[in-house]
Amino acid sequence: MIKLKLGPRTILYPMPAVIIGAEVEGKPNFMTVAWCSIASHKPPAVAMAIKQERYTLKGIRETHCFSVNVPSSDMAKVVDFCGIYSGKDRDKSKLFTIKPGDNPQIPLIDECPVNLECTTIHTLDLKSHCLVIGEITQTHVKQDCMKGKKIDPRCVDPLIYATSSETYHRLGEVVAKAYEVGKVP
Ligand SMILES: Cc1cc2nc3c(=O)[nH]c(=O)nc-3n(C[C@H](O)[C@H](O)[C@H](O)COP(=O)(O)O)c2cc1C
Repeated sequence: MIKLKLGPRTILYPMPAVIIGAEVEGKPNFMTVAWCSIASHKPPAVAMAIKQERYTLKGIRETHCFSVNVPSSDMAKVVDFCGIYSGKDRDKSKLFTIKPGDNPQIPLIDECPVNLECTTIHTLDLKSHCLVIGEITQTHVKQDCMKGKKIDPRCVDPLIYATSSETYHRLGEVVAKAYEVGKVP
């Protein structure tokens, strides 16, 4: 395989396109984040890289809590909007039906099939970005997307972001069952 060296770049596939919700100065605000991942199981936690100047980060610093909302692929337009315009200049509080979480200070987007309520447990300043680690305190999943005790990824239909090409995608086909296909080398 012939490879080209691109130097140090933030290339990793795939990335989720999620919408982070937080109250800023008492009003809900939402921003799109692709640099978001699960960070630990006990406690259940997420980690996300937020640029220092984001308005949403101001709210997370104020309230120490936020939501991670997983949009479906048909929400690409509003996801992009939340990733283009800042709450500093635009009111993004009326874009969605907002439901309060178990923690009433956490705004949840009703249109998103999955919502995580998070409480900030660590922040780490990494020059351009702040790494925010949040403990997941509650998980909300659209009832129709539950197949027994499991979540049906086809029903959630998450929006995927591809870096470099700057394009949104859907999940592709299932290629194998995890923890099974590799049992026999
Ligand atoms: C697809 C996509 C992914 C993004 N991912 C991030 C990210 O991971 N971290 C970040 O700080 N900004 C990210 N942004 C940019 C912010 O969403 C954008 O600056 C937004 O306007 C910030 O809103 P706010 O100032 O109201 O918080 C992304 C934008 C798009 C379109």
